[in-house]
Amino acid sequence: MTELRGDRLILRPIVPSDAAWLLVHWNEPSVRLHLFDDTVVTPELVAEIIGDSREDFESRGYGLWAIVRGHEIGVCGLRTTDDHAAELLYSVDPKWQGKGLALEAARLVVEFAFTVRGAPEVVAETDAANTASRRLAEKLGMIRVRTRQGEHGPVHVHALRAPADSGA
Ligand SMILES: CC(C)(COP(=O)(O)OP(=O)(O)OC[C@H]1O[C@@H](n2cnc3c(N)ncnc32)[C@H](O)[C@@H]1OP(=O)(O)O)[C@@H](O)C(=O)NCCC(=O)NCCS
Repeated sequence: MTELRGDRLILRPIVPSDAAWLLVHWNEPSVRLHLFDDTVVTPELVAEIIGDSREDFESRGYGLWAIVRGHEIGVCGLRTTDDHAAELLYSVDPKWQGKGLALEAARLVVEFAFTVRGAPEVVAETDAANTASRRLAEKLGMIRVRTRQGEHGPVHVHALRAPADSGA
């Protein structure tokens, strides 16, 4: 169990017993809007994402973690895209937003991916209208590499290369 510890939170891999709160969290309107293009998240999709994350942990050593601060307040981690990139994803319960917790979680994940798992690069996609997510990517040091047209408007693609001394 790859647990990561920050000053204010713990990250632990998501598991099948997380399905119920994940269903609620990912269907929260502002989370669903940006993470799922506003489509309803079904229990089947939640189960599939948990399964994909477990496979990623087995094959790559990283996946999606629950952000825990006493209880689960969000999700942060990496998913493997169709072209094998490590894509950073994050969401925090609206009650807990604006406190730097997503940034703290994302820094732990990126540092772990680079220095422990040897990932060469992490990418993130943010809807152009999603200021919070774009700010977070920028604060991580990510560089915007291109903008593509998404279903609901422009989507910025950001990337961060592993530091030269990380062993990646
Ligand atoms: C994106 C998200 C995870 C940010 O969570 P958070 O815990 O509020 O973020 P943090 O508090 O760590 O803030 C990180 C940076 O973003 C800024 N930020 C946070 N919310 C913001 C907002 N609504 N508008 C502008 N900037 C914002 C913070 O101010 C901080 O930058 P700063 O230190 O320069 O001020 C959260 O808004 C969320 O869950 N959104 C819905 C899901 C989502 O959009 N996920 C990303 C999909 S690509």
